[in-house]
Amino acid sequence: MSYNIAIDGPAGAGKSTIAKAVAKKLQIIYVDTGAMYRAMALYMIREKVDPADAAAISAKCKDADITIAYEGNEQVVYLNGENVNPYLRTEEVGNMASTTSVQPEVRKKLVELQQTLAAKTDCIMDGRDIGTCVLPNAQVKIYLTASSAVRAKRRYDELTAKGETCDLAKIKADIEDRDYRDMHREHSPLKQAADAILVDTSDMTIEEVIEHIMSLCRR
Ligand code: DC
Repeated sequence: MSYNIAIDGPAGAGKSTIAKAVAKKLQIIYVDTGAMYRAMALYMIREKVDPADAAAISAKCKDADITIAYEGNEQVVYLNGENVNPYLRTEEVGNMASTTSVQPEVRKKLVELQQTLAAKTDCIMDGRDIGTCVLPNAQVKIYLTASSAVRAKRRYDELTAKGETCDLAKIKADIEDRDYRDMHREHSPLKQAADAILVDTSDMTIEEVIEHIMSLCRR
């Protein structure tokens, strides 16, 4: 049986930074499920699908072949054979992913891919529904969160460090909109699994969070 750690939480809580670091320490694979939903969203943007048109999203997702591979320890997402990693981390794609991921057809397809991967590989997987739906039997489940003000500030600092000009209030509003959509959708909404451990990182450094999660894994 493979060893699986599930990390769920809202956008900007630091899931990927933490999961990557823990994966490295434990020498297991990091599976970023948000990237799979983002690849699906990129496909919808490229195909000019109206985000409000649920039927079109459900129909179109059948034509998107999404697979992942590990190259030099990094997860690479392929969309119909193309490595789309460079296009996934924009606000536009993130917002579209939050909208398109509510469709059950989209979720079914990606959850299958995630479960197959976790069944054969020791991994730490992050997302919104990992502890509740994708890996209900994961050995360790974490619900990682932080206040929306802290998450917005972290994203703002990240973008400004890259030289992008951005508006803190707009980022915070976008984060809160996305939280609302992710938490209130009908299928697999973001919520803490009954057996997940809550870690609020608002007042913690990255090192403190990593150490805390490592200690939970050792237990
Ligand atoms: O973690 P992220 O920001 O890359 O995720 C982008 C969107 O994908 C997020 O707003 C909701 C969706 N998502 C999901 O519904 N289920 C997951 N397991 C991961 C992401």
